[in-house]
Amino acid sequence: MKDANFLKAHNARSLWHPMTAPADSQKTPPAIITAAHGTRIRDIDGHEVVDAVGGLWNVNLGYSCQPVKDAIAQQLDALPYYSIFRGTSNDKVIELAEELRAFFEPDGLTRAFFTSGGGDSVETALRLSRQYHKIRGEAGRTKFLSLKKGYHGTHMGGASVNGNANFRTAYEPLLPGCFHIPAPYTYRNPFNESDPAKLAQLCLQALEDEIAFQGAATIAAFIMEPILGAGGVIPPHPSFMPGVAAICRKHGILFIADEVITAFGRTGAWTGSRLWGVKPDFACTAKAITNGYFPFGAVMIAETVAEVFEKDETGKAAIGHGYTYSGHPVGAAAAIACLAETKRLNVPVNAAARGQQLWDGITALKAKYPVIGDVRGGHGLMLALELAGPDKSAPPKTQPGQVQAVAYQSGAMVRVSGPNIILSPPLVITEADATTILSALDAGLAALS
Ligand SMILES: Cc1ncc(COP(=O)(O)O)c(C=O)c1O
Repeated sequence: MKDANFLKAHNARSLWHPMTAPADSQKTPPAIITAAHGTRIRDIDGHEVVDAVGGLWNVNLGYSCQPVKDAIAQQLDALPYYSIFRGTSNDKVIELAEELRAFFEPDGLTRAFFTSGGGDSVETALRLSRQYHKIRGEAGRTKFLSLKKGYHGTHMGGASVNGNANFRTAYEPLLPGCFHIPAPYTYRNPFNESDPAKLAQLCLQALEDEIAFQGAATIAAFIMEPILGAGGVIPPHPSFMPGVAAICRKHGILFIADEVITAFGRTGAWTGSRLWGVKPDFACTAKAITNGYFPFGAVMIAETVAEVFEKDETGKAAIGHGYTYSGHPVGAAAAIACLAETKRLNVPVNAAARGQQLWDGITALKAKYPVIGDVRGGHGLMLALELAGPDKSAPPKTQPGQVQAVAYQSGAMVRVSGPNIILSPPLVITEADATTILSALDAGLAALS
């Protein structure tokens, strides 16, 4: 390895970081992470902390998951790559598809289309939705609906259904025919409604209104996260996702659950759709499918949708979509091992218990620090603290970064997104890890006063 001085001096010289300005990376050097084990990461100066970000919502089983590492190593020896485009397949991807079919059976999802990550999965679901309607003779159904505050990656399709201007404005014009509904975000919403159940109903009415305005026969699909993640961890009222699914079904609109974060246990349920009792038409997955050790994803497809493609007699069901790395054997091997380990550890149980501990902890921090305007969570290991000035005004821009920096020095890596401090640790964190995260946050917040 190059020495620490070289690495620090060169970080922003020849590389651009995602999600920040190149000049910012030069001005504010990032933590350079060089090692990790268990739930901890270590930086180039030897400083070791609990990773309350869980990589990027993906390292659910921590950094020492030997079965996944072994599966990757063995697969690299056996078959490091082969495509599954028309005419070829591989043993691992076939096995994985069967495993996923069993895992997602309670969600009504029985087929898999493989991708290289979350953005690819979203793109796939959007495209297959349009094709589904074309096969059925409703070619006019091309539009997409989604939630403001939703995050669906940064591909052109994903950005178009994305509900945050930060990921849109610089790249406009985006895909035509994408429209957004208010999010069930009780802290700030256009209805000025703080009751979650009432707000859910108002957002559902807005959805009905938008469908009536656009014309149901022009809409291909609605996409949402079961719990909005990158938009600031917004758990909807339990009536919301079932309400959206029912409205979609009534109008013949496909319902896509973006489960890139929520699949595989993070919410304390095996999937976000199962948490809310919804059966989507597509579920987008990625991230924790390989514990973040290999870029990989899968779009799970409902039996009813699959039948339309498989029984087509019009010639319109040929899938003109796919990626070089769709069904990558190393990713598939990683996913098989990861799924087995995820089930063996029964991770939703710990996610729920440690989620409750963190939820109680951040609720107590809110009572202590007026700078915390809102805390959100209560469903497993997806939590956020939103900083705000008096009367919910935006906090000074530097404040969340200050909290993060002091929390890092005090033992935990947390993530900043706008005014939000987001917690998404591995699902295998211990009680002591959660206590460390809370004490580090306490130190970070105390430093503001
Ligand atoms: C809900 C959701 N969808 C899609 C994506 C995009 O995934 P990727 O960054 O792997 O393309 C993300 C990434 O955080 C996500 O949280």
